[in-house]
Amino acid sequence: MIPKVSLDNIDLSFPDASRPDGRKVIYEDFSLQIEKGSFTVLLGPSGCGKSTLLNIINGLLKPNTARGIVIDGTDLRSEPDLSRQMAYVFQGPRLLRWKTLAENAEFGLRGLGVQPREKWRDLIDKYFRAVGLGDAQHLYPHQVSGGMRQRASIVRAWVNEPQILLMDEPFSHLDEITAAEMRRILTNLWTSEEERRTIVFVTHDISEAAQLATDIIMLTPAPSKICLRRKVDLPWPRRMDSDEVIAVEKELRHAFAERAGIGF
Ligand SMILES: Nc1ncnc2c1ncn2[C@@H]1O[C@H](COP(=O)(O)OP(=O)(O)O)[C@@H](O)[C@H]1O
Ligand SMILES: [Mg+2]
Repeated sequence: MIPKVSLDNIDLSFPDASRPDGRKVIYEDFSLQIEKGSFTVLLGPSGCGKSTLLNIINGLLKPNTARGIVIDGTDLRSEPDLSRQMAYVFQGPRLLRWKTLAENAEFGLRGLGVQPREKWRDLIDKYFRAVGLGDAQHLYPHQVSGGMRQRASIVRAWVNEPQILLMDEPFSHLDEITAAEMRRILTNLWTSEEERRTIVFVTHDISEAAQLATDIIMLTPAPSKICLRRKVDLPWPRRMDSDEVIAVEKELRHAFAERAGIGF
C-alpha cells in the first residue's frame, strides 16, 4: 500500500467543563493510513470526530500531540503548503448566492491558487460538463435545485484537480433520490480519470459507505478507535440494491453492533 495520508499517534482533546477532568478526549494514540487513489470512507456515529479528522488531515486543526501528520511522505507541519493539494466539499453547498455557479467555481480556484489562470475557463467548462451542469453554470444558486447546488460545490473543489478530496457528509442533507444520483455522478467523475484522486469521504450512513468505498474505516464513539477496516473490491458503477453492496452493508451493521456497541 502506498499511503497518501498517514496520521501517526494523534492525541486530541477539547476543553469540556461538564467532565470531572475538564476535557473530552476525541483521539488518543490514534493512527490511520489512507491509500493513494482510494475512495476511503470514514464511517462513524455523530460526534465521534470525523469532521475533526478531516480538519487534522487538512492542517486546519492541530492535535495536542502527534508523531506525524504525513502527506506523501512529508509532514504537513513542516510543509503547510501541502494543504493546497486538498480541496473540501462540505455538508451544505456553501455557495456565494450573489455569484453564478461558474463564478463560485472560480472562487474555489482563486482560493487554492494552484491552477494557472489561463486554464480556469477550460477547467470550469470541463467539470461542469462532467457533472451534467454544462448549461447551468451561468445560473445563480437560487435558480437551481439543491442537488445541482451540491454538484456545483463538487465542481468548485474538483476544478483545482486536487490530489486529495475531503468530503464531509456531502449528501446527507439531500433527499434519498437526489443523494443516490449524486453518488452516481461523483463515482462516475472519480472513475473517469485515469489516475484516480484520493477521496476521504465522511459519513454516518452505512449504506452510503457500502456503495461508495474502496476502503472503509469504521470509528467508535469518542474517544474514537478504528473498530473495522475493510476493502470493498466491487466494480463500478455500483448499484445500491445489488446483492454485493447489500452484503457489505449487512456486515457493517453487524460490526457496529458488535464492535462499537451501537445497534440499528
Ligand atoms: N472546536 C471545538 N471545541 C470543542 N469541542 C469540539 C470542537 N470541535 C469538535 N468538538 C467536539 O468534538 C467531538 C467530535 O466532533 P466532530 O469531529 O465534529 O464529530 P463528527 O463529525 O464525527 O460528528 C464532538 O463531541 C464535538 O462536540
Ligand atoms: Mg461532522
